[in-house]
Amino acid sequence: MSKLRDLFIRNLAQTSDAPIGLEIVRAEGVWLYTADGRRYLDFIAGIGVSALGHGHPAVLAAIERQMRRYLHVMVYGEYLIEPQVELAARLAGLLPAPLSRVYFTNSGAEAIEGALKAARKFTGRHALAAFEGAYHGDTLGALSLAGNPAWRKPFEPLLDSVRHLPFDDPGALDAIDSSLAAVVIEPVQAEGGVRIPAIGFMRELRSRCDRAGALLVFDEVLTGLGRTGRLFALEHFGVVPDMVVLAKALGGGLPLGAFVGSDEVIGTLSHDPPLGHITTFGGHPLSCAAGLAALEVITQEELSAHAVEKGAYLVEALRALAAPEIAEVRGIGLLVGLDFHSAEFAHRFVAETISRGVIVNWTLNADQVVRLAPPLAIVRREIDIAVAAMRDALLGTRGGASRV
Ligand SMILES: Cc1ncc(COP(=O)(O)O)c(C=O)c1O
Repeated sequence: MSKLRDLFIRNLAQTSDAPIGLEIVRAEGVWLYTADGRRYLDFIAGIGVSALGHGHPAVLAAIERQMRRYLHVMVYGEYLIEPQVELAARLAGLLPAPLSRVYFTNSGAEAIEGALKAARKFTGRHALAAFEGAYHGDTLGALSLAGNPAWRKPFEPLLDSVRHLPFDDPGALDAIDSSLAAVVIEPVQAEGGVRIPAIGFMRELRSRCDRAGALLVFDEVLTGLGRTGRLFALEHFGVVPDMVVLAKALGGGLPLGAFVGSDEVIGTLSHDPPLGHITTFGGHPLSCAAGLAALEVITQEELSAHAVEKGAYLVEALRALAAPEIAEVRGIGLLVGLDFHSAEFAHRFVAETISRGVIVNWTLNADQVVRLAPPLAIVRREIDIAVAAMRDALLGTRGGASRV
């Protein structure tokens, strides 16, 4: 065992009994390079972060420029930090009105927490609704919204005022009443197994929230910034929520989250008391500079349109494998789910695929579903490599082929 691996096992907090354990020495484009001289196709884009792939020159140049100007200068919200202000203005210009005021955070979960606090303060209510299968992060408030009791249970009591409603079920919307501060939903559930709700459901959700005076919060941490084939997944439904939560790809590979709402909603956090919601590192200048550069590439190179085309190509290739173990291949842009009949088969398939040099993972709340979310900039040749590896991995999982 290498010294590094030994220290990894001894000193780093472990999140499971079976870490993938690749020793990454370099990452470039869609590829991760490991200490043993192998390369792996990053077919999950660092869990939805690396929309442009790794080491995009525009992002690196922006980081270098900002690094030489200044790093951290003062807690967020006090000084005029150019990349912060520019990124906020750019997001405001791209999101539909009235989503024009941005609060930056360090992560997705932290942005969810901020959105919950803003919703409670704005409405003067405390109850919340979320959906079965949902994943919004692992801080206590975000975890309270989690749609899988197995992840909540060890940490209870959590927030005691959360209703979990069946996802994509219009009948469940009767539970939205005037006691709710907010209803939080992923416009496409990712960890829930790549579940794409009906347009009618999302529109009905909007009108129920309007009637109840509850704020509608879209968690676009994974779906945002081109992943689903639109810059924001909300565009698929023609629904404008009261707040949008972003993270992952937002920082161009550096840590950054945000919740965005109207002047009135986000404005509640600035007074009574002032400084009632602050952060030391949220909206770090370096992260905002990287995020701004990444966003320019995403918009200028129309990577959402690219995601539509490459996603369709990927789904077609996977369906052509005609694997009897796969119940369904579904996708929206470059967020694709392989829904297996058995979770056990799906888990073995993930291991077999990784051993063939393609990184994929199963989803937290639907572990028979393997999620594919490669960098948006991926090209057909790289998709072909991944699909060939998955074809071999299917054979390997059945026990019919040796590793390539
Ligand atoms: C939809 C969604 N919301 C929130 C989060 C939490 O984000 P973070 O891990 O940055 O706290 C995630 C992370 O996977 C996510 O997928």
